[in-house]
Amino acid sequence: MTFPTLQNDSFLRACHGLATDYTPIWLMRQAGRYLPEYRATRAQAGSFMGLATNVNFATEVTLQPLARYPLDAAILFSDILTVPDAMGLGLNFVNGEGPRFERPVRDEASVRALQVPDMNQLKYVFDAVTSIRHALQGRVPLIGFSGSPWTLACYMVEGAGSDDYRLVKTMLYSRPDLMHHLLAINADAVAAYLNAQIDAGAQAVMIFDSWGGVLADAAFHTFSLAYTARVLSQLKRSHGGVDIPRLVFTKGGGQWLAQMAQLDCEVLGVDWTVNLGAARTLVGASKTLQGNLDPNVLFAQPPQIAAEAVAVLDSFGKPHSGPGRGPSLIFNLGHGISQHTPPDHVSALVEAAHRHSRALRA
Ligand code: CP3
Repeated sequence: MTFPTLQNDSFLRACHGLATDYTPIWLMRQAGRYLPEYRATRAQAGSFMGLATNVNFATEVTLQPLARYPLDAAILFSDILTVPDAMGLGLNFVNGEGPRFERPVRDEASVRALQVPDMNQLKYVFDAVTSIRHALQGRVPLIGFSGSPWTLACYMVEGAGSDDYRLVKTMLYSRPDLMHHLLAINADAVAAYLNAQIDAGAQAVMIFDSWGGVLADAAFHTFSLAYTARVLSQLKRSHGGVDIPRLVFTKGGGQWLAQMAQLDCEVLGVDWTVNLGAARTLVGASKTLQGNLDPNVLFAQPPQIAAEAVAVLDSFGKPHSGPGRGPSLIFNLGHGISQHTPPDHVSALVEAAHRHSRALRA
């Protein structure tokens, strides 16, 4: 498989801790409902899964934010819940209510019945990756992604989003053996899924541990971090002679950065509760950091958005400029962009982040 030559490698260089002319920026959930053109394509597709399973639609919506903003990376348009769907849980996106599984995994028999899915069932995802790589024409790199084993387990046991994680934590505390079995299968499924995305053309892969931060300290290490590490240990490190950086984002994971710095990955994503300067001191040059603007900043006016973007860059401090690996930042939000965000506010953010991060290097 050959793809057009990459033109903007600032994101990939920053992943590897190499100096860049400015701080690259992309936004979690950059393709989504805050964009009117996304809502139009979604209406055409009829449903979220109609959008995600159609290669042409998935390609189109992945490129929509790049047509509006000079972002430095694209992210595959799909969802973390495609993997449990392929395990047979029956995914539905009920309008206005978020995702729901028809057959949640709540007892011993259903945990024991789980298997790593046949990756052919997820062929629509890999086809989308290849199609997007071609459509990007080398403009920016393409990030593939998956949920973490623990975050997927939350949805698989709860059957939907949750406020208190009562069902999944009940299983964790009352039947840790079952939870370990479930997480081991998830880890092996996620590793196969990410490796297939790499084969299809993903130039970096990100693991979303969106609900790691709801765990107690000891439970985070045993039931989230250990299985993220199990995924990482199975991932391809390069493809066609090019290194594939690996990014791990644990929402609410700031207090575990020292342990996360030991993970076999290049980038750690952090939310807005983390002080970037302190995080930089903690991880040194061993990991690039990614984050961490509060998505709600985007509801303020453009001058305030610019000031908050400057504050994020200043809190990280002066970027390194020498040869080799040094402390590096990828600008992002601390979690996904809200569907209520005014699209022109995103322009103000991207412009300010690029401008000020260039000035910091002057
Ligand atoms: O642009 C991108 O970032 C790429 C696409 C992407 C989606 N979901 C599309 C999506 C990515 C990377 C995800 C990841 C995802 N999905 C996570 C991890 C990141 C995070 O936000 O913590 C999680 C927990 C999910 C599960 C999920 N999918 C939920 C809870 C919901 C409903 C809530 C919501 O924000 O709408 C979804 C649906 C979803 N996934 C939408 C999009 C654009 C909106 C659905 C729609 O169009 O109706």
